[in-house]
Amino acid sequence: MGTIVDLNSLTEQIKVLAVEAAGLVRDKKLGTQSKGPKDFVTQVDLCIDEFLSSRLPSLVPGSLVLSEEGDDDEKRAEYQWIVDPIDGTTNLIYGLPLYAVSIGLVKNGRPLAGAVYNPPSGELFSAYQGGGAFLNNRPIHVNTDAKLAETLVLAETDPYLERKKNFSPHLINEVFSECIDYRVTGSAALDVCFIACGRGGVFFTQCVKPWDYAGGSIILLEAGGTITQWDKSPLPFEGKHGILATNGLLHAEMLKKIEAYLKEFGS
Ligand code: IPD
Ligand code: CA
Ligand code: CA
Repeated sequence: MGTIVDLNSLTEQIKVLAVEAAGLVRDKKLGTQSKGPKDFVTQVDLCIDEFLSSRLPSLVPGSLVLSEEGDDDEKRAEYQWIVDPIDGTTNLIYGLPLYAVSIGLVKNGRPLAGAVYNPPSGELFSAYQGGGAFLNNRPIHVNTDAKLAETLVLAETDPYLERKKNFSPHLINEVFSECIDYRVTGSAALDVCFIACGRGGVFFTQCVKPWDYAGGSIILLEAGGTITQWDKSPLPFEGKHGILATNGLLHAEMLKKIEAYLKEFGS
């Protein structure tokens, strides 16, 4: 028989762990190191990684943790934790209050539960399959903006992509010619949650990895939104790819826009 999981109580436990993880590093020195071009990791990321990687598996028997700062990308189990200890590390380093601890639970490739915590604001987003989505325990829902021309767009600039191959700013510019305005938060995990609570109608980014959206995806789905790859296919929880997260009403319009853009300019 497979593992039986009480998603309600499990989600309460991962909310506690997300907040506890952030508390552990409150006064920690950043200790910034370079991971690659324009890509950094701090002691804060590493401490949170160590804490969550040691605590999460005991919540679900047989589960494994895939973390951005972990050592093994290949670990796979029926129940998989997908963790970004800090999403938005560059913001953390520069003192911008837009970063988050993100925890997602995926079962056989489908998102089951998630918690995304932004320590500076104390905002804690959470959801589990079938249970609705919440911000600090209050129900949240996507907005009802029905046209790109009538919505605020969130987008990321994909800083780790080689700049010559990075067309995010161009696509953002294209969308900017129509939408009310756009915002770049520097945290994809928060972007997805912000769409979930109506702070924008559309979020897109050219190249992210599962830990950037695993926590947020179930929160958005439970808030009534839609999240797919750029070609409309379902989100995989491996590899890297473009994602489109919307209030649902704007998904088709944005998919068309991305398709047209890629036909003309994409490689
Ligand atoms: C990054 C942030 C950023 C996004 C990048 C991500 P990190 O995560 O979410 O907003 O544009 O694609 O990799 O490196 O801060 O965990
Ligand atoms: Ca990230
Ligand atoms: Ca990270």
